[in-house]
Amino acid sequence: MSDKRNILLIGASGMIGSRIAVEAAARGHHVVGVARNPDRVPGAGTITPVKGDVSDGAALAALARDADVIVSAVSPRGEGDPMAQARSTAMALVEAASASGKRLIMVGGAGSLSLPDGSALIDQLPDTLLEPRAMLAALDILRRSDVDWTFFSPAATIEPGERTTHYRLGTTTLISDAEGQSRISAEDYAHALVDEIEEPRHIRAQMTIGY
Ligand SMILES: NC(=O)c1ccc[n+]([C@@H]2O[C@H](COP(=O)([O-])OP(=O)(O)OC[C@H]3O[C@@H](n4cnc5c(N)ncnc54)[C@H](OP(=O)(O)O)[C@@H]3O)[C@@H](O)[C@H]2O)c1
Repeated sequence: MSDKRNILLIGASGMIGSRIAVEAAARGHHVVGVARNPDRVPGAGTITPVKGDVSDGAALAALARDADVIVSAVSPRGEGDPMAQARSTAMALVEAASASGKRLIMVGGAGSLSLPDGSALIDQLPDTLLEPRAMLAALDILRRSDVDWTFFSPAATIEPGERTTHYRLGTTTLISDAEGQSRISAEDYAHALVDEIEEPRHIRAQMTIGY
C-alpha cells in the first residue's frame, strides 16, 4: 500500500479541521474535505472540497468507501441542543466506519480527560458549559461501538498559532505546561493527528496533547 492516504475529513473548514486538511495535504495525502459550506474548505493542492452534511448517512457511507480513514472535526455548535448534535454526529460516524470497515478518528474535547490527581475534569466545569458534556457523550458512543476509533482530545485551550512540532502526547490525563497552562496550537494538534493517521498508536483509545 502507498504511504499516501485517502482521508475523508468532515468539518474540513473549521478552526481545527482546516489545519488538519492543510497538514495532511502538505504531506501529500489526499483529503476529501466535507462541510455544509465547501467554499470555506482550504483550496490547497490535494484537498477536494465536497458539500455534505454529517447527518446524511448514505452520502457519508459512500464517501467512506473510497477512504482509508475517516476524520471528524465537526463541532456541536449548530442550531439546537449540543448534546443531541454530538450524539447524532457520533452515531452517524460510527455507522459509516462500521459499514465501510474504516478507521475513525474524532477530534474530541478536553472535558473528557482526567486531572493528574485522577479526578475528572468535567466535574470542575460549570454545568452551563454544554460542549464538553456533549463531547463526552460522543466518546461514550465510540467506546460502545465495535469500530477502530481514536478520540483525540485537545489541550484545554486550542487556538490558531504556530506549527512548532514540539509537544507532548498522552492518553487520558490533561497535559499542562510548567506554568500550569494546558494549551496547544491548532497547527501542532493537526501535526500530531496526521502522525496518528500515518502511524496508528491509539486504536480504540483516547489520546491527548499539550506543551
Ligand atoms: N479544548 C477543547 O476541548 C476544544 C476546543 C475547541 C474545539 N474542540 C472540539 O474540536 C472540534 C472542532 O472544533 P472547531 O472549533 O474546529 O469547530 P468549528 O471551527 O466550529 O468547525 C466545525 C466544522 O464542522 C463543520 N460542520 C458543522 N456541522 C456540520 C454538519 N452537520 N455536517 C458537516 N459538517 C459540519 C463546519 O462547516 P459547515 O458549517 O460549513 O458545515 C466546520 O467545518 C469540536 O468537536 C469541538 O468540540 C475542543
